[in-house]
Amino acid sequence: MDLRFSFLLFLFLQAVSGLLLAAASNVAYPSVVDTGAGDCSVSDGGDGSLTPIRREVYDNGRIIDISHRFTVDMPSWESDEGLGQFLWLPKSMKNGSLANNSEMKLPAHTGTHVDAPGHVFDHYFDAGFDVDTLDLGVLNGPGLLVDVPRDKNITAEVMKSLNIPKGVRRVLFRTLNTDRGLMWKKEFDTSYVGFMKDGAKWLVDNTDIKLVGIDYLSVAAFDDLIPSHLEFLEGRETILVEGLKLDGVQPGLYSIHCLPLRLLGAEGSPIRCILIK
Ligand SMILES: *[C@@H]1O[C@H](CO)[C@@H](O)[C@H](O)[C@H]1NC(C)=O
Ligand SMILES: *[C@@H]1O[C@H](CO)[C@@H](O)[C@H](O)[C@H]1NC(C)=O
Ligand SMILES: *[C@@H]1O[C@H](CO)[C@@H](O)[C@H](O)[C@H]1NC(C)=O
Repeated sequence: MDLRFSFLLFLFLQAVSGLLLAAASNVAYPSVVDTGAGDCSVSDGGDGSLTPIRREVYDNGRIIDISHRFTVDMPSWESDEGLGQFLWLPKSMKNGSLANNSEMKLPAHTGTHVDAPGHVFDHYFDAGFDVDTLDLGVLNGPGLLVDVPRDKNITAEVMKSLNIPKGVRRVLFRTLNTDRGLMWKKEFDTSYVGFMKDGAKWLVDNTDIKLVGIDYLSVAAFDDLIPSHLEFLEGRETILVEGLKLDGVQPGLYSIHCLPLRLLGAEGSPIRCILIK
């Protein structure tokens, strides 16, 4: 290719990507913060007003976002006040900066998030089993969304009754937590449903499940908090995804995709999870 031509092409591509970035920046830094629980989708005033679109599903429902939006009112571990402020704008255009640059601060186990083995094993933490070491092959692939009985925590008996076939490697457990809308409530609620120690042990010993997802801030019931985590994480093969948004999703088989941040040294990370039909 002629050098001059390829340089022009380069300039053209630069210009195009600049335009794309400019278009994307309005979406990336929305000025309207919606903290409501509802499904906020398209709202084009039709009067040319700048209204960002927030979606729960994409591509006509083919892609389902099962991560919760971070808001000041989302629940936070053992807090009655919710997450609170987590974003600041130290450099703002309103105050003369060339661009808006936010900073954030939040507990690593906030909202939809993943646990690494270092969460409950100090020697794993010291050895570096952080979220950067989690297997993306486990966090991505086919899996089941199942409903569990609403009148119990997840015990060995409940696990047995679910009859999850051998070979299934990823399961998202929908519980009473979703019916009660617990992830939409500011106050932390200790009565959420989760795994009891014997349920966690049964899963590890008797199934091929390596990705365990649940619909509140912990896979373990509050009464068995540490014992259940120990059962799951001791083998360093099971990955726990917590705080999933499973409202209104049909049970069944999906392609699950979850991506944590590569936070060196962190035993937890916010995670973006989607289901693809
Ligand atoms: C920049 O931040 C200001 C607040 O200082 C906000 O009103 C404005 O919408 C932001 N601009 C963009 C492009 O997001
Ligand atoms: C701009 O600066 C003033 C004075 O430091 C401060 O009170 C105000 O909150 C800032 N505004 C924004 C949008 O950052
Ligand atoms: C699950 O266990 C919690 C304590 O960890 C308890 O408060 C709750 O009532 C139990 N839920 C059900 C449905 O049994």
